[in-house]
Amino acid sequence: MIRAIYPGSFDPVTLGHLDIIKRASKTVDELIVGVLNNGGKTPLFTIDERVGMLKEVTGELSNVKVMSFSGLLVDFARETKANIVVRGLRAISDFEYELQMAQTNHKLNPGVDTMFLATGLEYSYLSSTTVKEVAFFEGNIQEFVPEPVVKRVQEKVQEKKNRQ
Ligand code: PNS
Repeated sequence: MIRAIYPGSFDPVTLGHLDIIKRASKTVDELIVGVLNNGGKTPLFTIDERVGMLKEVTGELSNVKVMSFSGLLVDFARETKANIVVRGLRAISDFEYELQMAQTNHKLNPGVDTMFLATGLEYSYLSSTTVKEVAFFEGNIQEFVPEPVVKRVQEKVQEKKNRQ
């Protein structure tokens, strides 16, 4: 039984994330999408909202589970008995940070290895940060995030603007 974790902030989930989830889920028996509940950062969406959106957009993938985690990724891997971490690489600029993270995780828990998937060319420019920025200035985000997520991002960004 090969169980892998695809960890991230997913604030919000993008079509690039979804592409990695679909492809990774074909290569393992079970894929856990691990959503980081990081007290240090101030995400646009709460942890429950991020988990909820991921559950909605991965609902048809029978071997994909969505869970939140806090603390170290290697501890979450130990708890869930996963020994592979999946990460997407969009460009060479991602590589340095990703390599450092993979090596740190492996040092902390030698039972955990990182598997990199090359992001699909059509999503190589995409990030949750740019999605939020485009939405903030009322640009079209339909080609960036799954359909059920579009309205939620627009509403959240509007709420944030109203508070400013
Ligand atoms: O989507 P992101 O924000 O690039 O994902 C980063 C994530 C969640 C994979 C990374 O920050 C993480 O694993 N955080 C948990 C804390 C941890 O284990 N840090 C040590 C790894 S260097």
